Amino acid sequence: MKIIFEHKAFPAFLLLCICLVFLQTIYLNKTRDMDLIIHGVNVQSFHDVQNLKFQDLDQRAKRMLKEERNITFSKSLTRRLPNAIIIGVKKCGTRALIEYLRLNPNIRAAGPEPHFFDRYYHLGLDWYRQKMPKSYGGHLTIEKTPRYFVTKEVPERIYNMSKSIKLILVVRNPVTRAISDFTQAVSKGEYNSTVTFQSKAIRRNGTVNMKWPAVNIGLYVNHLKRWLEYFPMDNIHIVDGEKLITNPVQELNAVQDFLQVERDIPESSIYMNTSRGFPCIKKENETPGFRCFRNSKGRPHSYADTKTLKILHNFYKPYNIKFFKMINKRFIW
Ligand code: A3P
Repeated sequence: MKIIFEHKAFPAFLLLCICLVFLQTIYLNKTRDMDLIIHGVNVQSFHDVQNLKFQDLDQRAKRMLKEERNITFSKSLTRRLPNAIIIGVKKCGTRALIEYLRLNPNIRAAGPEPHFFDRYYHLGLDWYRQKMPKSYGGHLTIEKTPRYFVTKEVPERIYNMSKSIKLILVVRNPVTRAISDFTQAVSKGEYNSTVTFQSKAIRRNGTVNMKWPAVNIGLYVNHLKRWLEYFPMDNIHIVDGEKLITNPVQELNAVQDFLQVERDIPESSIYMNTSRGFPCIKKENETPGFRCFRNSKGRPHSYADTKTLKILHNFYKPYNIKFFKMINKRFIW
């Protein structure tokens, strides 16, 4: 012991120990200082705040929540099966919806449509998992494949993967949807330029050609009925495709609430681009500072005469009424 005290390095060692104790005291005080009282809850961790509404937190609490979540998230970055799927409907705004949701840092969205449950089911769930983006445990993973909505086998297949999965359905007036679908088919060269919308939609005897996919997809009630054999309506959220254009923030808030993720898409990140006539995404610190969807989204529609529109409107009416009853929500179409 005497040797230690008399060693010439002892004063320096002692000084080092005092410094370490001092630094540790400062650190502990600083950590304690991070504790917050929010709505009467002594918030010390992510778990304390996760039951509070994210919007109610002040800046400091939000920062803390994000830091805490990063720690939770950083446990393993890997590809996971989706917690939610946008199942349709084709030409109703499914691309816009998934791109908006991608702006929420709690959500990870697959890029291209995986078409697993309709085309590649035989390749197995591991193949599907590989199509998903990498995510941390706390993220919500989502994909979109609009063909799922109208493919008979899909509801049961999804149910076999997850009974509690959240399903999202974007809808719009089925008449407008049919014209949009036809416009897309023409632009892809599926019909030659002499084929008109009305020649496909209306038979020679004046009745509607229900078998034509552009018309059939819009019979929402018939397709949704198959999904309800496997999932309760509580698991299915309906998005108004028309409002997604005129008031995207309101629609997105409802979707984020349904998905049980914090509303974390800054309102300023989506703005109405007047020259495009559709909302575009604002990208901070990027050139150009905005991103609109491809010209195939929101393009001028093929011509459809008033008589055809009226026939189709009357044709869809009883189906629409049944659909509204089924989803307990009304639209103006
Ligand atoms: P139109 O091209 O008929 O206008 P989907 O992505 O499911 O194929 O849907 C395409 C539709 O998304 C477009 O149909 C358009 O109306 C709608 N949409 C919604 N938000 C949009 C946006 N911000 N930009 C472009 N199109 C948008």
